[in-house]
Amino acid sequence: MTEQRVALVTGSSSGIGAAIASRLSAEGMRVVLNSARSAEQGRELADSLADAHYVQADISDVDQANRLVEAAVERYGRLDVLVNCAGTTKVIPHSDIAAVTPEVWQRILGVNVIGTWQMSAAAAPHLAKSGAGNIVNISSVAGSRPVGSSIPYAVSKAAIDHMTRLLANALGPDIRVNSVAPALTETPWTRDDPFFRAVADKVRQGTPLRRVGTDTDVAEAVLAVLRMDHMTGAVLPVDGGARLV
Ligand SMILES: NC(=O)c1ccc[n+]([C@@H]2O[C@H](COP(=O)([O-])OP(=O)(O)OC[C@H]3O[C@@H](n4cnc5c(N)ncnc54)[C@H](OP(=O)(O)O)[C@@H]3O)[C@@H](O)[C@H]2O)c1
Repeated sequence: MTEQRVALVTGSSSGIGAAIASRLSAEGMRVVLNSARSAEQGRELADSLADAHYVQADISDVDQANRLVEAAVERYGRLDVLVNCAGTTKVIPHSDIAAVTPEVWQRILGVNVIGTWQMSAAAAPHLAKSGAGNIVNISSVAGSRPVGSSIPYAVSKAAIDHMTRLLANALGPDIRVNSVAPALTETPWTRDDPFFRAVADKVRQGTPLRRVGTDTDVAEAVLAVLRMDHMTGAVLPVDGGARLV
């Protein structure tokens, strides 16, 4: 029997990350779930899956990021897939330049960019031994279009997409690195916020598929990327055509 593959999904106590962790588990993988704060929620989800383990760690802290990867490898003895899904934002209109303080930049880039880097760097030696190592970064349509909840958020997602291309070059042939770039997706992050509700109205009226994405849409795309053995350094939009308008 071939050994079960092991996936580590950051930011998987909620929303898109939770859907990805559940989908990979249903696919027969052992899954390590993570969040920085919502530990009870993460543990509950891990307990509900076939063979899963939760680790609390803030990926923006290098020691915690390293410990998260080590905990996954200690638990299951290998690592095949890293999904960098943990992310943060602050809703700031793009014209409100004064509201974008250095602290806002540091927090958003610290989690979204530096956290993604730290996780990828810590996981790479283990993924390289997998025989089919994969990193999938969850970026956003805001990484390539002048949209998104704030300028620092959009910049952080553009940085993730370029990190994807650079790491695909640096880590091949042992590890494939790709981004999945959703547009507005219904999750706890977006559900009750007036900014995102206004975006949802525009999506329903003015985008080719006329609906907001679901966490399942993104989870299916991650699975598709894992199956696409000849794809690396790519950014896969999961946006109902939102990037076209
Ligand atoms: N929803 C959308 O419309 C949309 C669209 C495009 C891209 N995305 C991206 O998809 C990802 C997930 O978003 P979501 O909508 O599913 O949001 P969500 O439901 O709020 O989930 C965010 C997850 O990330 C965790 N997290 C946040 N900061 C963390 C940190 N420093 N270390 C570890 N975990 C951390 C959160 O847990 P704790 O807060 O408890 O730590 C939670 O598990 C994000 O990267 C987001 O940018 C979302």
